Amino acid sequence: MTDYRTLTEAMRALLHGVPHLIADLANASALLFEELPDLNWAGFYLMENGKLVLGPFQGKPACIEIAVGRGVCGTAVAEDRTVRVDDVHAFPGHIACDGASNAELVIPLHAGGRIVGVLDLDSPIFGRFTEEDRVGLESVARAIEEELAALLAAG
Ligand code: SME
Repeated sequence: MTDYRTLTEAMRALLHGVPHLIADLANASALLFEELPDLNWAGFYLMENGKLVLGPFQGKPACIEIAVGRGVCGTAVAEDRTVRVDDVHAFPGHIACDGASNAELVIPLHAGGRIVGVLDLDSPIFGRFTEEDRVGLESVARAIEEELAALLAAG
């Protein structure tokens, strides 16, 4: 079981004081891909003109744009909640970017009082993300949000 307290602190330390969005999110996706076992994709989609647009990630090339309300990512934004999927093939409207993906966890990211993007994790293992993982990864996501908020505040 991943030590999410340690991973959250590692994320906070990695991003703290780095005033570059792309650098922060690229490093964040690399840390998650390295530290979490059994992932085939870890990365970000960012809100741009009302749509989700592919951001920094680790894994196979992925779809560029996702409409709010579409797929697991768009559902997480539309409902402003973490969406944890044990079997993506049973999720209505799931968008398959990597055929190896069988489970997915998507966490909305907030800054300045609005959703600015999502953290998206995919796994080839059905049921890879448990409720314990969800809680732990939401804590990691809060560390990412803190840095995003600081970047926004700095303009
Ligand atoms: N499966 C996602 C699309 C993004 S890829 O997993 C990287 C979805 O249904 O929104």
